[in-house]
Amino acid sequence: MTAFADIADKYGKGEIRMMVEENVMIPHVSDENLEAALKEIADKIPRWSTAPLTLQKGTVSCTGNQFCGFSNINTKGNAIEIADRMDKKYEFPEGKSVRIHWTGCTNTCGQVQIGDIGLLGSKAKNSAGEQVEGVDVFVGGGIGQTSAIGKVVKKAVPIDEQLEDVLSEILEGQFGAKVRSGYVPTPKTVRAPKNPPKKAAAPKKAVAKPAGPLTMDEVKKHNTKEDCWIVISGQVYDVTGWLAEHPGGQGVIMPNAGGDATEDFTGQGHSKFAQDKLKDFIIGPLEGGG
Ligand code: HEM
Ligand code: SF4
Repeated sequence: MTAFADIADKYGKGEIRMMVEENVMIPHVSDENLEAALKEIADKIPRWSTAPLTLQKGTVSCTGNQFCGFSNINTKGNAIEIADRMDKKYEFPEGKSVRIHWTGCTNTCGQVQIGDIGLLGSKAKNSAGEQVEGVDVFVGGGIGQTSAIGKVVKKAVPIDEQLEDVLSEILEGQFGAKVRSGYVPTPKTVRAPKNPPKKAAAPKKAVAKPAGPLTMDEVKKHNTKEDCWIVISGQVYDVTGWLAEHPGGQGVIMPNAGGDATEDFTGQGHSKFAQDKLKDFIIGPLEGGG
């Protein structure tokens, strides 16, 4: 992101726009600077394509189980892999866009109903009857002049075993997809069955109660990234091992290190998942005031 900001400073007017389609734009780049700007993006940020293929360009995903406790599946990882595989397999008519929206649960932050194709994370069974990551498949959503709410056409499709075949049928039948000449199918990725993770990883450091009383004076001593305590609603927490995993980043927790974080924690409107997660870090009730 910093490299991208530097390029926006150099070739644009220091402005970056994050698009609802989860693409990113540098406005105000003059025609004569365009080629140099594109080259610099390709050199410095190779994983951001300036000429994405149809499905890579049209893919939108919610954050998924990497950061969200509600998610049934790893939305982003699957979205990237499926877009890549299907782009390698198919070419589309000139100018055709295909918007695939992934979302991890029925809260549908990834707006599953308005994608041309929508994929809603679900539990599914593979051919051996084991529980694996799956999706309900929606088709027919639209935005703008063709706005429409997509309808479910298939439920609980196991991603590894069947999604590619289901999408192939839809893309060929409804979006004019043609298999690229010389296309050689790559074997499907089949991951070990597992229940979707309900909990984030355990804290790296075991939480141990100190010998002395848990006073505010004691809490104040633990105010570094290597040793970080906070107080929330009269309870003391050791969040050292959580700093690197916090979805909001460690930058928002550190100003509260060794102090009372109640206002910041509750002010953020943390989910029930986040509130339950706190239990992993509890040391004990604060004694004797500040
Ligand atoms: C100390 C002050 C804290 C502040 C100011 C803070 C702030 C934030 C912010 C800004 C986000 C949103 C991230 C985003 O939308 O990208 C977030 C998310 C989150 N935070 Fe914190 N956080 C704090 C402490 C904690 C602690 C101690 C925990 C441990 C349980 C925690 C757990 C989470 C979780 C699980 C999320 C994901 C969204 C959710 O489930 O609510 N946070 N936090
Ligand atoms: S759609 Fe569900 S899983 Fe995805 S970010 Fe929203 S709440 Fe989390």
